[in-house]
This record gives sequence, structure tokens and C-alpha cells, in this order.
Amino acid sequence: MQLAGKTAVVTGAGSGIGRAIAERFAREGANVGAWDLNGDGVAETVEAITKAGGKAIAVTADCSDAAQIRDAAEQTRAAFGPIAILVNNAGIAPFVPFFDITDDQWEQIMRINLKGPYLCTREMLPAMLDAGWGRVINITSSSTQSGSNGQVHYVSTKGGVLGMTKALALEYAASGVTFNMVPPGVVDTPALRAAPVDMEAFAKTLPMKRIGRPEEIAGACLFLASEDSSYVTGQTISTNGGRYMGSA
Ligand SMILES: NC(=O)c1ccc[n+]([C@@H]2O[C@H](COP(=O)([O-])OP(=O)(O)OC[C@H]3O[C@@H](n4cnc5c(N)ncnc54)[C@H](O)[C@@H]3O)[C@@H](O)[C@H]2O)c1
Repeated sequence: MQLAGKTAVVTGAGSGIGRAIAERFAREGANVGAWDLNGDGVAETVEAITKAGGKAIAVTADCSDAAQIRDAAEQTRAAFGPIAILVNNAGIAPFVPFFDITDDQWEQIMRINLKGPYLCTREMLPAMLDAGWGRVINITSSSTQSGSNGQVHYVSTKGGVLGMTKALALEYAASGVTFNMVPPGVVDTPALRAAPVDMEAFAKTLPMKRIGRPEEIAGACLFLASEDSSYVTGQTISTNGGRYMGSA
């Protein structure tokens, strides 16, 4: 068990990639704070973890709201003690042509996808620094590496998280807390199924000829959450089936 006894928070754990990360971390012995705006989704995640013999609590919270994040962190600490691992996964990924993006849409996506990870990190980092050990893993996107049609606002948020991750990694490099990124390529989740993308046609364009599974993103997160990644910070594990092979 690679995360035995560690407390981990996974945001957006009520669906898709976040659920797979929460389940994998729990199988590795972590006590998981499974946070999501969608209370039903996160209750299902925790039920599955508990049935499999793992430990988790479901917390309904808007992970872009500082007061709700504080409350969610307090509930998680009360259940499991100090939080050592944070996965900033919650996000939205709409497709809107550039000139159709409204100011409200721009501000909403910046708040959820960029400000949310900032606020969650700000809430949880002090305890990690006190402990001299911590892991922050940010779920970015291969679209930050390659661009994505109809997603200027989305790609801008993920690019912001990329910069934030590297800046934090540098500022706290000697602290025992690491900051890394996992940018998924195209992964089979409810969000992807709702997107205007022909999945089968897209899969054929990928070197591996298939889209990814949420569990394959969780595997990369597990490495970055574990002791095995102790000398890795400010880095990217590109989980994309060979779609993008650059270094960023
Ligand atoms: N699926 C893909 O192909 C893909 C590709 C690249 C990046 N990603 C990223 O992976 C992450 C997860 O995506 P997914 O495909 O699993 O999506 P999903 O929609 O299946 O799951 C996202 C979860 O985040 C939650 N959420 C949204 N806003 C929230 C908020 N303000 N507070 C708390 N929870 C909130 C939703 O309720 C949902 O349960 C996102 O950050 C997404 O941008 C996904």
C-alpha cells in the first residue's frame, strides 16, 4: 500500500477522472476526502470505496469558493487528521467559439478551473509545510500542450494552472512538498461524452488508437502522490496515448 494512513483530498471526485483517483488512492490505503459540487455523485464514489474496504468521506462543496473549501477541509481533518495530498481535479470543459464566449462564461471558468486550485492549495499547503511532506497534483489538460478548437477560455485556465504549478514548485522546492501536473489527453468520462467530439473518429487519430480510461490517469497520480516521486517537482506526466510528446 503506497499511501497507507495518508489523508488525501480529491476535488471533483463525484465523476470520471476524480472518482477513479479517489478509488485508486483508497485502495492504496489513503483516507480520502472526496469533494464535489455534486453531492449524489460523491456519495456514490464513497459508497464504492467503502464497499471495497477503503476509507473515505463525501463532502459536498463548491471547490471555487473559499468559505466552502475551508468548511470541507475542516470536515476532512475532523474525520482523518491533517491533509497530506491534494489533487486539484474539479473542472468544467465547455466548447464555445472564441467570439461567442461571454464575459460571464470567461469569469466562471477562470473561477472554477484556475482560482479553485489556487484556493484549495492555499487552504491545504500550511499543514503540508508544517509536516515537511506534501503532494499537490494538478489535473491540467493536453489541450494546453496542443491547443483545442472552441476552447480558448478552457485552455487558458489550464495554462494558468501549469504556470501556477511550476511557480509553486520553485517557491517550495526545499520544503518537502511537491507540485506536479497530469494533463489527460482524451479520456472516457461523462464530461467527454457530453462534448461535441466524435470519439470513435478521434480515437483513430491517436497513436494508441484508443481514448484513455480514467484509471490510467489515476495511475499517474498515484506515482506523484507516493514516496517514489520524492525527487520530482514542477513536472508533467503526459497521459495521452502518445498524442503529444513534447516536454511541456
Ligand atoms: N475527460 C477528458 O478527456 C479530460 C481531458 C483533459 C483534462 N480533463 C480534466 O480532468 C478533470 C476531470 O474531468 P472529467 O472528464 O472527469 O469531468 P467530469 O465532468 O466527469 O467530472 C468533473 C467533476 O468536477 C465536479 N465539479 C465541477 N465544478 C466543480 C466545483 N466548482 N466544485 C466542485 N466540484 C466541481 C463535477 O461536479 C464533476 O463531478 C477536469 O479538470 C478536466 O478539465 C479531462
